[in-house]
Amino acid sequence: MTQTDTRPSVDPRLLERPVLPTEWLHPAGREPSGDWARLPFGSSRMLPSAAYTSPLVFRWEQRHVFAAGWTCVGREDELRVGPDEPSGRPLTQRVVAVGDVSVVLTWPGDEVVALANTCRHRAHELLAEDDSATRQSLVCPYHAWSYDLAGRLRQAPGYHGMAGFEPADHGLVRLPVQRWHGWLFVHAASPLSDPVVADFDTYVGGLDEIVSPYAPEDLELGARHTYEVAANWKVITENYHECYHCPLIHPELCQVSPPESGHNHDLAGAWVGGCMDLRDGMETMSVTGRSDGRPLAGVSRTTVEYLGLWPNLLISAHPDYVMTHRMVPLTADRTWVECSWYVPRIGDGQSVDPSYAVEFWDITNRQDWKACESVQRGLSSPHASPGPFGPGEDAVHAFVQLVARCYQGQPVTRDHAGSAPTTAGAPSPGRLR
Ligand code: FES
Ligand SMILES: [Fe+2]
Repeated sequence: MTQTDTRPSVDPRLLERPVLPTEWLHPAGREPSGDWARLPFGSSRMLPSAAYTSPLVFRWEQRHVFAAGWTCVGREDELRVGPDEPSGRPLTQRVVAVGDVSVVLTWPGDEVVALANTCRHRAHELLAEDDSATRQSLVCPYHAWSYDLAGRLRQAPGYHGMAGFEPADHGLVRLPVQRWHGWLFVHAASPLSDPVVADFDTYVGGLDEIVSPYAPEDLELGARHTYEVAANWKVITENYHECYHCPLIHPELCQVSPPESGHNHDLAGAWVGGCMDLRDGMETMSVTGRSDGRPLAGVSRTTVEYLGLWPNLLISAHPDYVMTHRMVPLTADRTWVECSWYVPRIGDGQSVDPSYAVEFWDITNRQDWKACESVQRGLSSPHASPGPFGPGEDAVHAFVQLVARCYQGQPVTRDHAGSAPTTAGAPSPGRLR
């Protein structure tokens, strides 16, 4: 059976190029070209609408943002649980998509390994999409070459004794993978030890000192919602990084957290974020402001952190739970979002009921998705053009600068050495009047 490929035809060499062709961002001179990316906050503008709507830009991003970034593929403990594994044995192998590259995660022991899901014989996939297994070897379904969990070729039927054939030359391609506070991050575009791969600690940079006190690795999954949002992943991220919109669309949020509160962090790394305050007497982000959970030890009881690690993990750290949004772009105008609530383990077979947090954030998520979907429709209008950043949108500007650096083939990791906060990141409607 053949299927019609509806993707736009494009010279594959353009997709391989680490610099986004500028004509894809400015088709037919519809929007001013100019180096919008380099302008400082206050004089720069939003991204051109094609950045959010063009299938070509989307395909380029799949390779150069997601496959060639440190993309979060989920929590390791959750990735090891198989949907069809009645024995409860942890998985030894699982397929994940990282941008446009298929990857097999394996666990030969305590170590985690990432392998290209591409056989070294004739490139058949070793495991099908979303597949997983508890076997100790990877066997290609095409001609039965088999590999161990470290990717070494063990059997190549019919090749035994063949002159010039060295199994050691035909192992699966190993890819960089990192653990960080319970999550796994894969860099799928380059082999392990390739010097183009950003050092992970440098990439995370100063984010670690903000996230570490919450010890997400010690928390357990309390609840999860998944959403398919009809908006580009950058629209969702930009919306996350400003509360300028809060007074208009989030009445529940404004009851517990002043939308003009907080400040942005200015630390090194490939991330953007800041914190906001809880109102006096409020314990957490919930409809009532009360917590039905347990406070996390050693973290602020009066603030909530909103942190976006490039490219796809948003971490919202509360006094009593950590919520994440993990984004998987599906098309230029659709994004799958996994929203997870992580709560403290309390033992004795008991667990925290996170309903209070889920109720609040599901309301807020849906308010945000509605706005993001409207923005996406607006961006597809021939009359859309990049607007200026307002005073409360400096974190959006910081994110757009990461995008712009990536489009220009530059590293996205900021190397700020200082830790002084920038001006308030949350909106200040008073300053706009
Ligand atoms: S393609 Fe995998 S064994 Fe032939
Ligand atoms: Fe919002």
